[in-house]
Amino acid sequence: MPEPIRVVVTGAAGQISYSLLYMIAKGDVFGYEQPLILHLLDIPPMMDVLQGVVMELADCAIPLLREVIPTADPAVAFKDVSAAFLVGAMPRKQGMERKDLLSANVKIFKVQGEALDKYAKKDVKVLVVGNPANTNALICSKYAPSIPKENFTAMTRLDQNRAQAQVSAKIGVPVEQVSNVIIWGNHSSTQFPDASHAVVNLSGKQLTVAEVIKDDSWLRDTFVQIVQKRGAAVIAARKMSSALSAAKAATDHMRDWFQGTVYGKYVSMGVVSDGSYGVPKDLVFSFPVTIKNGQWSIVQGLTIDDFAKQKLAITGKELEEEKEEAVAIIQA
Ligand code: NAD
Ligand code: LMR
Repeated sequence: MPEPIRVVVTGAAGQISYSLLYMIAKGDVFGYEQPLILHLLDIPPMMDVLQGVVMELADCAIPLLREVIPTADPAVAFKDVSAAFLVGAMPRKQGMERKDLLSANVKIFKVQGEALDKYAKKDVKVLVVGNPANTNALICSKYAPSIPKENFTAMTRLDQNRAQAQVSAKIGVPVEQVSNVIIWGNHSSTQFPDASHAVVNLSGKQLTVAEVIKDDSWLRDTFVQIVQKRGAAVIAARKMSSALSAAKAATDHMRDWFQGTVYGKYVSMGVVSDGSYGVPKDLVFSFPVTIKNGQWSIVQGLTIDDFAKQKLAITGKELEEEKEEAVAIIQA
């Protein structure tokens, strides 16, 4: 068995973490042979609740889980970690957009960026889940200059999973038969869920989703809107934001980042833009990526028609506005 690695989860007493911690601890992310030491960060008023979570983790009797360190101190939480799940942040309520959370949340990611810079391993892989995830990830990376900016990512895997589920339900096949649905841009209602490069495996034959669904207006309109508004629909139904599906998406994102993607398949991640597809640089923008040896690369050469170009521009513009607002909040 390899040596245990240290993994931090912030917002560890919250609702996403309640599902996420078990998934991580039992090996879904780092593999079923990799022992772990879990660092659990939350704020001081949540320490009693967090103790309850620690008790439950012990009561799960998980062989890979070697130690659990609950704390309200970022210096302890981020010490020597190889992976960071930054979940801790306020969730939105019904009627809000995710960017309405900037004023409440962005400063958390400045502080945690500074703590990562000081205490984490220099090759730490950081996944920002707390909303607005893309802009929080950008800010976090700015305050951790000693860690490569490629190591800061934002979660759009939940949107990808939602999109894949919608397409597979429309066709009437299990989800694993559908791949390469892309989420472009912001984890917000301006995101562009794009099925134009997606494929479906039907009786061993690979077909494009477009040639199977044969309904342009569903693919360009209904589907796009369902995925864009799915988070709000869950909040309207549950009166709380998605948690189980968010935890599952976070494990999918980190597992693929650590273990790599399957040849020919890509996944969507909010990553720092290098200007690919005309997206402005210095934004955390969701692109299709492939991953090898722990390094992601943006999939190149996809055809972007005028419809898609327009959608990418809208979501890119929103991210530029969010970035400006985030900087103003931090400097105020
Ligand atoms: P929650 O309110 O149940 O839990 C959040 C936890 O974070 C709380 O325990 C809180 O005390 C803690 N926290 C707050 N400030 C902190 C800090 N500075 N350091 C450490 N912990 C801190 O919320 P939740 O439902 O678990 O959601 C967490 C975040 O994830 C929200 O911002 C939500 O909008 C976001 N989210 C993102 C996605 C995505 O796809 N990117 C999906 C679902 C939810
Ligand atoms: C989601 O997509 O479910 C989360 O980002 C929570 C939200 O605010 O919608």
